[in-house]
Amino acid sequence: METMGNMRRTHYSAALNETMAGQQVVVAGYIAKARDLGAVIFCDLRDTKGIIQLNFNDECPRETFEKAKSLRTEYVVMAKGTVALRESANEHIATGKIEVKVQELKILSEARTTPFEIKDDVNVKDELRLKYRYLDLRRSTAHDALVVRHRLAKIARDYFDENDFVEIETPVLVKSTPEGARDYIVPSRVQPGRFFALPQSPQLYKQLLMLSGYDRYMQIARCFRDEDLRADRQPEFTQIDIEMAYVDEIDIQTMNEGFIKRAFKEVLDVDVPTPFARMTYKQAMEEYGVDKPDTRFEMKLCDISDCVKNSGFSVFTNAINAGGSVRCIVAKDLADKMSRKEIDKLADVVKTYGAKGLAYTRITEESTTSSFEKFLTEEEIQAIRQKANAGTNDVILAVADAENSVVFAALGALRLAVAKKYNLFDPDAFNFLWVTDFPLFEFDKEENRYVAVHHPFTMPKEEDIDKVETDPGACRAKAYDMVLNGVELGGGSIRISNPELQQKMFRVLGFTEERMQNSFGFLIEAYKYGAPPHGGMAYGFDRLCMLMGKKDSIRDVIAFPKVQNASELMTGCPDVVEQKQLDELYIDLIEKK
Ligand code: AMO
Ligand code: AMP
Repeated sequence: METMGNMRRTHYSAALNETMAGQQVVVAGYIAKARDLGAVIFCDLRDTKGIIQLNFNDECPRETFEKAKSLRTEYVVMAKGTVALRESANEHIATGKIEVKVQELKILSEARTTPFEIKDDVNVKDELRLKYRYLDLRRSTAHDALVVRHRLAKIARDYFDENDFVEIETPVLVKSTPEGARDYIVPSRVQPGRFFALPQSPQLYKQLLMLSGYDRYMQIARCFRDEDLRADRQPEFTQIDIEMAYVDEIDIQTMNEGFIKRAFKEVLDVDVPTPFARMTYKQAMEEYGVDKPDTRFEMKLCDISDCVKNSGFSVFTNAINAGGSVRCIVAKDLADKMSRKEIDKLADVVKTYGAKGLAYTRITEESTTSSFEKFLTEEEIQAIRQKANAGTNDVILAVADAENSVVFAALGALRLAVAKKYNLFDPDAFNFLWVTDFPLFEFDKEENRYVAVHHPFTMPKEEDIDKVETDPGACRAKAYDMVLNGVELGGGSIRISNPELQQKMFRVLGFTEERMQNSFGFLIEAYKYGAPPHGGMAYGFDRLCMLMGKKDSIRDVIAFPKVQNASELMTGCPDVVEQKQLDELYIDLIEKK
């Protein structure tokens, strides 16, 4: 192995082009590929910005040529040579028309055979990729995703800075407060028996910064939630977090549309039309079954309860009589493609959302097959088809349940499953949407109390303020989500800046006076010293990177992500600690039963 000596890189691979033919350069990087053809050796050199071909031939000093013979993939080298036009150009890479004819070569590090090949679309198990994440990140798709992430972070900082936002860091060791997801907790050594929590978001701090007179705050903030992982959920994730004073919903939304417009233009050269479409929560649920509709395709839900409420099919009538409904979607022009077997698979989809079954009618030129029409009259059958606008070659897929939430969730998921299976949307489209007017509370049956849909600091709609204590379930919030292609990209709200109203909120959430004081006394007091009206929102930054990079999971845009059981495979954490560390914290471990 050699040292660099006096040699220094002059150019990244991507900076080289045909106009530089004849120029002497020094490049540095990994050997991506080495081909020894006897009289000439070609190597692809990979650096952080791309690939350049190295050429060792009979013009190259013998000593260098001999050294080049020993090159293997993933060796780290530095090469001095002359830029030259290639005899046969490679159209697939940016620098495919040129190469560097090497005069001097330094092998800075040898490399053993890597556990998997360093190339795109290599078929390796996720576990292995993540155990060797530093190797995985050498692959250009993985590598570039983090570069895009960096660019997006910079655009966010620039955009909000230009709009008078100040980036302020908030603590990572914070007080554990009730509501929200489960906290990660951290024991205090100096105060045994006391704990910090890791922040689920900077929410309380950013509100207090508004009371400190900062007016406009932003932060690219790390957040921690002890939740089950999903493709778009990690225990540790990043928000672009903002808060603004003297604003209402529309001001915050407009400011953020500006950011999105800029980010998509600069990173993807995509023009996002603004203002975004808007839809109330109620409309989203009724038409799409979810609060984050994918509007790239139609297939809206249709309530057919009225058509079947007097029918002889007890599955339908029982659901309606118990306060629920019967709703359907229509898979347009798919009857010839959707076999009985496929419908059975779709029935499994709705069952995972609690539905007890999936009723269907498949209408083809030749015949109609239905799981429920035999129980209905001709008028009822026609009424459904008319209401749902279903005709020849369509499939009606219906769910009945006593709980509307089950009907919505099941059909919402079914709609997505059908669209995905039959390619019903343009994968290159970016459909943005504001979902507004969320409910302020929802009733949690397990806890037997109301919980805040967004968080307890969210302002009710003016017309609902009177109802906060008398009819909580009917109150709507000044809360909104930004949705992109069916993913909740961000969410926010106008905050309660009136301490009396804030106390009312906590009472509705079932807080005693004492618990309210212990958990949130500092906040209620703070609002008594002068508080501008304010609100904000937070983006899931990982989700933004994922959607812009067309990735399937936020794992792909996080340098060192965690896996299903919340561990990080490269370093192997969480891990046990030494007894001494536990002793210092006065922590005794008890055996898990
Ligand atoms: P919320 O809880 O809706 O709001 O979070 C804001 C956004 O953060 C993203 N997100 C996540 N991303 C990855 N992994 C997770 N576990 C995860 N949880 C949430 C989502 C979500 O839309 N303080 C408020 C914002 C505000 O009111 O200003 C908040 O945290 O994209
Ligand atoms: P059965 O009379 O049980 O054979 O049911 C007739 C059809 O109704 C079958 O296709 C079932 O899958 C369907 N079905 C059963 N329960 C429900 C439900 N809750 N919602 C919609 N369809 C259902």
